[in-house]
Amino acid sequence: MQRTLLPNHQVQRTSDYKCSAPYYPTMQLPGLTDIHVHLREPGATHKEDFATGTAAALAGGVTTVLAMPNTQPPLVDAASFALARQAAEAKAHCDYGLYLGATLINAPQIAALASQAAGLKLYLDATYGPLLLDDMAAWAAHLEHWPRSRPIVAHAEGKTMAALLFFAALHGRHVHICHVSRRDEILLIKAAKEKGYPVTCEVTPHHLFLSTADVPAIGAGRAEVRPRLASPADVQALWDNLDVIDCFATDHAPHTLAEKDSANPPSGFPGLETALPLLLTAAYEGRLTVDDIITRMHTNPRRIFGLPAQPETSVEVDVGEWHHIQAADCRSRSGWTPFEGRPVRARVRRVILRGQEVYRDGQVLSSPGFGKNIRIGI
Ligand code: NCD
Ligand code: ZN
Ligand code: ZN
Ligand code: ZN
Repeated sequence: MQRTLLPNHQVQRTSDYKCSAPYYPTMQLPGLTDIHVHLREPGATHKEDFATGTAAALAGGVTTVLAMPNTQPPLVDAASFALARQAAEAKAHCDYGLYLGATLINAPQIAALASQAAGLKLYLDATYGPLLLDDMAAWAAHLEHWPRSRPIVAHAEGKTMAALLFFAALHGRHVHICHVSRRDEILLIKAAKEKGYPVTCEVTPHHLFLSTADVPAIGAGRAEVRPRLASPADVQALWDNLDVIDCFATDHAPHTLAEKDSANPPSGFPGLETALPLLLTAAYEGRLTVDDIITRMHTNPRRIFGLPAQPETSVEVDVGEWHHIQAADCRSRSGWTPFEGRPVRARVRRVILRGQEVYRDGQVLSSPGFGKNIRIGI
């Protein structure tokens, strides 16, 4: 299918067009939502915290982030959840929601906190952090207890994903699959959707724009990420099945450069500040449309997660001028990016959130605490 370039109704000229001068159109997008970020608070604020992570979000055109529970302590009960809620309330520059994490024993208790949470996260494969649900009886307990009105999202790769989809089908409930990265996985989700099973999924920009072919240039330690970077054929299969992908989510997983370059590098890439420039550059090249991006980073996240509308919220982006991605320009405390040096032709200029100018030309203007918890009321 031939995909068209920037739709005309979203392109506005900011200044008078002169034939000889370079012309960079300004585009208005709705506030974007990133349903998968790690903000590391509590417990690892040297990697990121609610202030730096939400500042990075605004710089990337993201006005709502949903933060993962694999913190220290992990967010698995009322006390740990309250810690994170207080920190976010004091420090967030953009709106946010917080996931709760499933453990072997907490299914009945955390269901009582569901109305305050973005959703329930199931870690069904080993990844960074202490949460791993390696007992199928516990999967069933969570599928039974967690209210159907709130989403369940899962880190479930390969065969684990197939097993979870079967469990969800048995329980007749929706699950959302995080960071799909491989051909066999996207085809499985496609087949499940064709049978009418209520499954949704997300794909990260790094799995769309990087493959195993990029590992030597990035460096083996820095390239550690779960799911691992996949083959070029897997990447192609994701692009070929764009219609199966409900959301783009960064899985912003900051670790410091010293940690990434250590003998035992933790897995994860920062991504909040690079996602939109990369995706809009792909739109510029005709690989997808701007509407494809809005659907997957605004409309579908709001629908799947039942998020409130953000009135008077918009993102202004310049498209056309080449520049290079540089960690030095980023606000994330991680201090590096796997996309260092990559040319992109889109730049976030300005973000308005709930009527207030919160970002302009590299400056975050909202104060810590301006961000609201999406489950408490915007
Ligand atoms: C994530 C992290 O660092 O928290 N790491 C990663 O490689 N993606 C955990 C996760 O999302 O699996
Ligand atoms: Zn994961
Ligand atoms: Zn993650
Ligand atoms: Zn909208």
